[in-house]
Amino acid sequence: MSTVVLDNVSKVYPGGYLAVDRMNLRTGNGELLVLLGPSGCGKSTLLRMIAGLEEVTDGDLWLGGTLANDLAPRDRDVAMVFQNGALYPHRTVRGNIAFPLEIAKADPAMVRQRVTELSKALHIDEMLERRPGTLSGGQRQRVAMGRAIVRQPSLFLMDEPLSNLDAGMRTELRMEISALVRSLGVTTIYVTHDQVEALTMADRIAIMNRGVLQDLGTPGQVYNDPATAFTAAFLSSQQLNLLAATVRAPQNQFILLDFGPHQIMIPWTDPRAYAISKHVGQQIIVGLRPDCLAPVPDTFEGPTFLGRVRALEYHGHEWLAYVESGLTAVAVPEPPDPRRAARAGSSTLNGGRARSVLRRLIPGYGAGDTGDPHQEQEQVGGSHRRADLIVRLGARPVWRAGDPARVGVDAGRLMLFTMDGSRVDPPQR
Ligand SMILES: Nc1ncnc2c1ncn2[C@@H]1O[C@H](COP(=O)(O)OP(=O)(O)OP(=O)(O)O)[C@@H](O)[C@H]1O
Ligand SMILES: [Mg+2]
Repeated sequence: MSTVVLDNVSKVYPGGYLAVDRMNLRTGNGELLVLLGPSGCGKSTLLRMIAGLEEVTDGDLWLGGTLANDLAPRDRDVAMVFQNGALYPHRTVRGNIAFPLEIAKADPAMVRQRVTELSKALHIDEMLERRPGTLSGGQRQRVAMGRAIVRQPSLFLMDEPLSNLDAGMRTELRMEISALVRSLGVTTIYVTHDQVEALTMADRIAIMNRGVLQDLGTPGQVYNDPATAFTAAFLSSQQLNLLAATVRAPQNQFILLDFGPHQIMIPWTDPRAYAISKHVGQQIIVGLRPDCLAPVPDTFEGPTFLGRVRALEYHGHEWLAYVESGLTAVAVPEPPDPRRAARAGSSTLNGGRARSVLRRLIPGYGAGDTGDPHQEQEQVGGSHRRADLIVRLGARPVWRAGDPARVGVDAGRLMLFTMDGSRVDPPQR
C-alpha cells in the first residue's frame, strides 16, 4: 500500500503552458481518489507526473514517504490504465494478463492461479484463450485492468478507463472497479470528467479547473458544500443559477442580499451572517440549484422571486421552468487562462507569490502579480447578463409559458461566493 503526496506540484510544458498550478494533495492509504475536471484541465498531466511519464517542473512528489521527483517509472511500483489500454494482439487474454508476472519470472503455478482468480473477478474467465481482436471494447478494458492489477502494485493510476464504453457498460464496470480496488486495498487515483462516475465511485474527489485545484472532499462534501462556484456548477446535474447580488446591512438590523428587483433577508442568527457581513457594500455571487427553488402560493411567507414563465423544458423525470425575473446572471468564475496565469504568476484561488523555477521557465512570469486579489476581480469574475431563473418543477408542470411565477427560495441552501468564485464562508474540510 502506498500514499501519494503532492506538495505544490506544478507542470509547465515547453512554450510556457502552465498545465498544473501548485497542486497540493494527499491520498489516504488504500483510498480511491477521483480526479475530476473538464477536458484540458490537467488531469492526465498530473497522473503522468505521478507515474513518472512526465517530469515535475516544480514542487515535491512523495510516493509512500519517498521523494519521487527523480525516481524512474519502473521504480515507482505504480500501474497505470489508459483510456485506450493497448493489449498485445498476438497474446491471448490469459497471456496478456500474465505478461507482467512472466517478465518478472514468477512461479508459473502462481501465475496460473492469479490469472484465474482475477479473470473471475473481472468476469472474463470464459474468454481466457481468446485474442483481444475478438473482444468487445468493455471486455478489452477489463483485460487491460487485469494486466495492471495482476502484479499487485502499491499504487493504481487510471486515466478515464471507461470513456470509450457505452452507458450501460460504464455503469457496470465502474461498480466492479471500485469494488475490486477496495478489496485489494490498493491506493487508486482515478481520472474522469464524468461527475456521476466521480460521485458514485470516490472516497474523495479532487476537482480541477485550468490546472488549479478547486475543491477536495468526500462526494457529499463537494456536492452539498462546494468550496468554489466552479465546483458547485460542475457538479450540478441541472444548470446552476449564479446570480449577482449586493450585500447590504440596513441599520445593521440584518443582512440583505440585494438582487436589484428582489431582496433576500439573512438574519444575524444565520450561521453565515458574520462571513457575509464582511462583504457589505460589495457584489457577491449567489448560487442556487434549480431544486432550491419551487412554485409557491401567494400565502408563502419565505423569500420569493416574482417573474413570468418564459419556457418549460421536459427532461423525462422532471420539468424545468425558465422564469424571467429581472435577475442578473454571472458566468462561472474561472482561474485565469493558463497562458495568462503564467504571466500573472498566481492563480487567484491559490494566492501566493510566483515561484523562482516557474519564473525562470515562463517568460514574464510574475509580472502581473500585484498581490491584491481585487485587482484580479474584473479578469476572473464572470461577465454579467440578464438571464432566466431555472426552477425545478418536478414530475408535473404546474405552470404554463406566460404564467406569472412566484418562486420560493430555500434560503438555507443559498451558496455564496466572492467574485473570484471562492466561498464567502469557506467549508471546513
Ligand atoms: N506535451 C504537451 N505539450 C504542451 N502542452 C500539453 C502537452 N500535453 C498536454 N498539454 C496541454 O496541457 C493541458 C492539460 O492537458 P491534459 O492532457 O493534462 O488535460 P486533461 O485534463 O487530461 O484533459 P482530457 O479530459 O481532455 O483528457 C491541455 O491544454 C493540453 O493541451
Ligand atoms: Mg486526459
